[in-house]
Amino acid sequence: MQAGKSVLLIIGGGVAAYKALLLIRLLKSAGIGVRTVLTKAGGQFVTPLSVGALSGEKVFTDLFDLTDEAEMGHIQLSRAADLVVVVPATADLMAKMAAGLADDLATTLLLATDKDVLIAPAMNVRMWDHAATQANLATLRVRGVSVVGPDEGDMACGEYGPGRMAEPEAIFTAIQAKLGGGPRDLAGRRIVVTSGPTHEPIDPVRYIANRSSGKQGQAVASALAARGAEVVLISGPVRLDPPPGVETRKVETAREMMAATLAALPADAVVCAAAVADYRVADAADQKLKKADGAGRSLTLVENPDILATVSALPQGERPPLVVGFAAETQDVIAYASAKRERKGCDWIVANDVSQGVFGGDENRVTVIDAGGSEDWPRMGKDAVAERLAGRIAKAMA
Ligand code: CTP
Repeated sequence: MQAGKSVLLIIGGGVAAYKALLLIRLLKSAGIGVRTVLTKAGGQFVTPLSVGALSGEKVFTDLFDLTDEAEMGHIQLSRAADLVVVVPATADLMAKMAAGLADDLATTLLLATDKDVLIAPAMNVRMWDHAATQANLATLRVRGVSVVGPDEGDMACGEYGPGRMAEPEAIFTAIQAKLGGGPRDLAGRRIVVTSGPTHEPIDPVRYIANRSSGKQGQAVASALAARGAEVVLISGPVRLDPPPGVETRKVETAREMMAATLAALPADAVVCAAAVADYRVADAADQKLKKADGAGRSLTLVENPDILATVSALPQGERPPLVVGFAAETQDVIAYASAKRERKGCDWIVANDVSQGVFGGDENRVTVIDAGGSEDWPRMGKDAVAERLAGRIAKAMA
């Protein structure tokens, strides 16, 4: 549906510039036109020759090439595309955008455009965390600039943390959403997604929880919504903003999550991505427990209801036709997850090995298990996992 649309792709100067080449291929194969601008710094990382060969168009690099207006003026260039995308958006480019500087072709176009702008930041973790960059980011967001990433992970500079550019697939998905394109193959479907951890109170100030960030569940909710589904996200306490285009209902405990999930039915599918606490404290205290009472104290735990098993066991007619669970395992992933699928009665289970930094991180490596067998997916960003899962769900419901 986005075929025939076009993107003005500004390639900034960072190691991640090579990912812009992969992005150009994804855009072209979707029939989206790509006109490229390579900044001077960007040209240190990728060559105009490779960019031009992939985009099939002239690569623009110099403002003064354009100012004689012989072929196309910079104003026209800034407005001819449906969307302006900056990949990678370096700290410097973000600062210039926030300040409204226009000292080269890229920044001039960004100031002159009347089109939506999407940026994919990439920089060293300290540069990203710096108050100046965060203030620039906030300014750009307020002005309506869309932001994809950055991810958290190992960086080319040897450090670890947020700052690594989003994967090309995730940027591509964000572009599709901005262009209003992408397959709308879930239009008219209602899908409930559970996500995040639950908090089980010990007393009014303490609780039992787990390390789930809610990123994978929210990414699934967004990917389903992007395909036109009406999505209800039942989210435990997370530090993320609720995803746009999704109805989010916030809960704290497993029992609240269960009640909210059942209340959101009927649905065509339920995806249980939440890391629900298996147990809660039997008699949570009404008042704060005092240290003096604590020595030798033990907490009695009682089992929480299992949302996935409950939804899967609903009688025919009430049971959503597709119920998908997740299985977080740290060993014997496939064996445990297959057993879990049978035990809980869901249709598919998305198994992931959470022994290596998956909780809280931006990447996931999953195996999708259904009645027919199992499907290994390569390690990829959580957005890309979500997009692929949404595609699989759409196909199953077609
Ligand atoms: N789940 C749920 N309600 C619960 C516990 C789990 O809906 N009370 C769902 C999760 O959302 C996930 C799936 O069940 O989709 C598997 O969760 P997991 O924590 O891996 O399974 P457990 O049943 O807790 O099994 P175990 O702790 O023994 O691995």
